[in-house]
Amino acid sequence: DKQKFIRNFSIIAHIDHGKSTLADRLIEKTGLLTSREMQEQILDNMDLERERGITIKLQTIRLVYKAKDGNEYILNLIDTPGHVDFNYEVSRSLAACEGAVLVVDAAQGIEAQTLANVYLAVDQDLEIVPVINKIDLPSARPDEIKEEIEDVIGLEAHDAPLISAKDGLNIEDVLEAIVEKVPAPTGDKDGTLRALIFDSYYDSYKGVVAYIRVKEGTVRKGDKIKMMATNANFEVTEVGILAPGQVPMEKLSAGDVGYLAASIKEVKNCRVGDTITSKEHPAEEPLPGYKKVVSMVYCGMYPAEGEDYNNIRDALEKLQVNDAALTFEPETSVALGFGFRCGFLGLLHMEIIQERLEREFDLNIIATSPSVIYNIYKTDGTMMKLQNPTNMPSPAEIEYMEEPVVKASIMTPTDYVGAIMELCQNRRGEFMNMEYIETTRVILHYRLPLNEVIYDFFDAIKSKTKGYASLDYELEGYQRSNLVKLDILINSELVDAFSMIVHEDKAYERGRTIAEKLKDVIPRHMFVVPIQAAVGSKIIARETVKAMRKDVLAKCYGGDISRKKKLLAKQKEGKKRMRQIGSVDVPQEAFLTVLKFD
Ligand code: GTP
Repeated sequence: DKQKFIRNFSIIAHIDHGKSTLADRLIEKTGLLTSREMQEQILDNMDLERERGITIKLQTIRLVYKAKDGNEYILNLIDTPGHVDFNYEVSRSLAACEGAVLVVDAAQGIEAQTLANVYLAVDQDLEIVPVINKIDLPSARPDEIKEEIEDVIGLEAHDAPLISAKDGLNIEDVLEAIVEKVPAPTGDKDGTLRALIFDSYYDSYKGVVAYIRVKEGTVRKGDKIKMMATNANFEVTEVGILAPGQVPMEKLSAGDVGYLAASIKEVKNCRVGDTITSKEHPAEEPLPGYKKVVSMVYCGMYPAEGEDYNNIRDALEKLQVNDAALTFEPETSVALGFGFRCGFLGLLHMEIIQERLEREFDLNIIATSPSVIYNIYKTDGTMMKLQNPTNMPSPAEIEYMEEPVVKASIMTPTDYVGAIMELCQNRRGEFMNMEYIETTRVILHYRLPLNEVIYDFFDAIKSKTKGYASLDYELEGYQRSNLVKLDILINSELVDAFSMIVHEDKAYERGRTIAEKLKDVIPRHMFVVPIQAAVGSKIIARETVKAMRKDVLAKCYGGDISRKKKLLAKQKEGKKRMRQIGSVDVPQEAFLTVLKFD
């Protein structure tokens, strides 16, 4: 029985604790690739991921390991993304596994994201195999970390492998622990087909390719299949294993992990978390845990000067084919013209899409300040969902408003508790409780408005704690709140792209901060440029960009011609990143400054 020799597992870890490095070592150790081929970390293969050092898109790989018991095992390693924005994807890849290797940094210990991931794994009834990494560091304290794992998570950790993924130390212990501790998959290969989709991407030849874990039954090339959440039907054109790279096989059976293609045109017909079953003999129940992903954060994306709107639409369409969590629809802005309202899982997801548009599609984008969805209960008895601050009805039409709130847990050394409490207070947080993990470390639980979290809350926590604290959050619901629309006027013109919804008590402070920041980034013009922040018709802050002095201009004349040309070219280059609003040139970075206010 071949199931006995299969192990399906994930690696979970806090960001930077060494997940990718360990994955590389496991691949190397099982002889899949020579170290020359390993020059690039193969699991994190998107450029952006490598630069940011985080895993976004999942990768899966099949390793063959000859264990000390003399048997050959198939180890399917399913990678998980490493950021709170992608928790649902993490939970679906964990659902494809029987076990998880928990990597804990021997110097840093357990952090909030580690815990969040452990809870996700525990929810899936996974066997958790703790591994302590970076024992080569002088600051490593493996014994304390073992105790921490036992105390905080309640996991037996005395025999946890102590490794250095960087130096390739004790990697075999990890492989042996996987074989010994992670249970073999079960499930009847002759039963009714149920396969979990844990990732998908678009391939221009094969259509959407789904990464699947077969839980029951068998799927073959030529089979007619049905997606249980969407009811879409397809005929399987190819199945196979990820060895790495796609290796076609005749079939995949209960316990197997692999890929499936079926000429599927759009990712939205092949959703992560959905169950694939047979069209002719469908299963009665889908596998548990499917959720339709919902966007939490919205922003407008507009072409920068000279950029074509249609190019942005084409690029967004291409990205969406691969990213079911990205939504967009056309919208118009008085200041910026035609653009799109885009929806994201969170702020990181938003930044990633912006960067991909700029890099992979070479587009110049202006993004408006991000917003969450507010519920507006109107005096006429109706309720509207507000995604774009510009569409806020006049105060006379509003009975009351609600905003989304999250439950946040912040893990921090006790030294920074004061600083974090102050920060949370500033962000309208409601203190829930404080949990001691050890004498020097706590978890603070807060209820916070999502619109305070989406901006730079994570960065603020990091900077206030020298990077020691970590954050995890989940949406809790909606709460009633006194909210107003804060507008920015440049040269007396309202720039709708800067409008944002803020709490009444925050309007003054935020308006002032934004006005000050804009003053610094908007260049001098031939005339004075007033910058104002307003709530309704009331101006609450004002700054002025002084007019350009004549002698600055004089510099542009005279001198040799080549220098002048260079100067002109440089100005043109600078121009490209500007947006003209009324008669004022506003640089692209101005639109970003509104995001940061601490
Ligand atoms: P995400 O993909 O963001 O989840 O990060 P990760 O957990 O995959 O971390 P990654 O493997 O990229 O490692 C993070 C950093 O730690 C890198 O700079 C590694 O070189 C370093 N690192 C990994 N393992 C070790 C180790 O055993 N010892 C030391 N000293 N450094 C290590």
